[in-house]
Amino acid sequence: MQLTSLLGLLATATLAVGQASNNTTGKLGDARPVRNNPVIGEVWVAKFDSPTVKGFVTAVANTVGVNYTIDVTGLPVDQGPFKYHVHVRAVPSDGNCADTAGHLDSYLRGDSPPCNSAAPQTCEVGDLSGKYGTVTGPSVLKR
Ligand SMILES: *[C@@H]1O[C@H](CO)[C@@H](O)[C@H](O)[C@H]1NC(C)=O
Ligand SMILES: *[C@@H]1O[C@H](CO)[C@@H](O)[C@H](O)[C@H]1NC(C)=O
Ligand SMILES: *[C@@H]1O[C@H](CO)[C@@H](O)[C@H](O)[C@H]1NC(C)=O
Repeated sequence: MQLTSLLGLLATATLAVGQASNNTTGKLGDARPVRNNPVIGEVWVAKFDSPTVKGFVTAVANTVGVNYTIDVTGLPVDQGPFKYHVHVRAVPSDGNCADTAGHLDSYLRGDSPPCNSAAPQTCEVGDLSGKYGTVTGPSVLKR
């Protein structure tokens, strides 16, 4: 059973975009909740261990949906806010993030135009910052 992998923060820093009142949804419609998850409690971790940025993002399969926790320190304060996404593939052992493919986007939504966080089912599935908000340095603890 392949859950998706997490790639984490340090995507492109972007300017905060005003909350869109546009409920653009995926070409395949709104995301549907995953129920009877076969991997409840399974934990996926994206670990950050650079000289400056340390911490982790965890994803735990819940009865319905996924619980995410972001606990990262050392983010540059002169950059951001930072977006973060779930990518299709895990970061390989050589650490090359280019091998993670695109964002998880099961309903073919894309992350532009920005999603309405009040209607998360319309967002790109992997667009976590679109659904839960961007993060800024130096440290983040977000559940
Ligand atoms: C909503 O998004 C669609 C698709 O990108 C775009 O064509 C439309 O202009 C947007 N509407 C508003 C009000 O932003
Ligand atoms: C996910 O979070 C909810 C709300 O805090 C909690 O009730 C639930 O036990 C969590 N699930 C897992 C698998 O950690
Ligand atoms: C977008 O979805 C939210 C939540 O379902 C709803 O309250 C709002 O009216 C919708 N906005 C538009 C422009 O359809």
